[in-house]
Amino acid sequence: MCEHKGFTVWFTGLSGSGKSTVAEMLYHELRARGMKTEILDGDVVRQNLSKGLGFSKEDRDTNILRIGFVAHLLTRNGVATICCPISPYREARDANRRLIGDFVEVYMHATVEEIAANRDPKGLYKKALAGEIRNFTGVDDPYEPPENPEVVCDTMVESPEESLQKVLTKLKELGYIEDDTIMVRGDRLHSGMTDLRVAETGHVVKEH
Ligand code: ADX
Repeated sequence: MCEHKGFTVWFTGLSGSGKSTVAEMLYHELRARGMKTEILDGDVVRQNLSKGLGFSKEDRDTNILRIGFVAHLLTRNGVATICCPISPYREARDANRRLIGDFVEVYMHATVEEIAANRDPKGLYKKALAGEIRNFTGVDDPYEPPENPEVVCDTMVESPEESLQKVLTKLKELGYIEDDTIMVRGDRLHSGMTDLRVAETGHVVKEH
């Protein structure tokens, strides 16, 4: 396996904006390129590394700085690290940018109205808008969009593939990957880990 320089792709955006979906697609793309890759997903991290933390500003910042610390360790060991927590506060994201250095911030944009109306699989927005969940990001808790993200994905008009393509193109531009062609196609976009196939371009994906 050839040596690759480590980097962190940091997805930020509201819950339901598509962070995990595109992050997972990106994971497979990087694996298909023979890179060591790891995902630190908000929902998953909160079941282990950040178990017990809530959604106050303090707890969210603690969560984000923990994820940033792990991402830093992975990145300096040559791992292509993908993080996708909401990470609503600019200052905590910027602290991670400073710590990690090789940091590619991807802002996944969608409005609360769009997400609540069209993609609320966990039913969380409905509950938050009804006042049944308090301090929900974008409803009654702040979200601070990045000021200078490397990539902006307008997920209200772009397909997940288009967003993925933007990320790959930026990674190529920054010299982290050589080829930004989408190599992996899955029938399901989310949790595509289980049903992927090899693209017609002939690229082979090697899972474990
Ligand atoms: S972060 O703010 O600390 O970055 P993180 O990404 O880890 O958030 O967790 C967000 C997930 O927690 C959401 O996708 C949602 O499933 C769940 N969640 C539960 N309560 C809240 C809340 N008050 N605000 C946002 N997300 C919440």
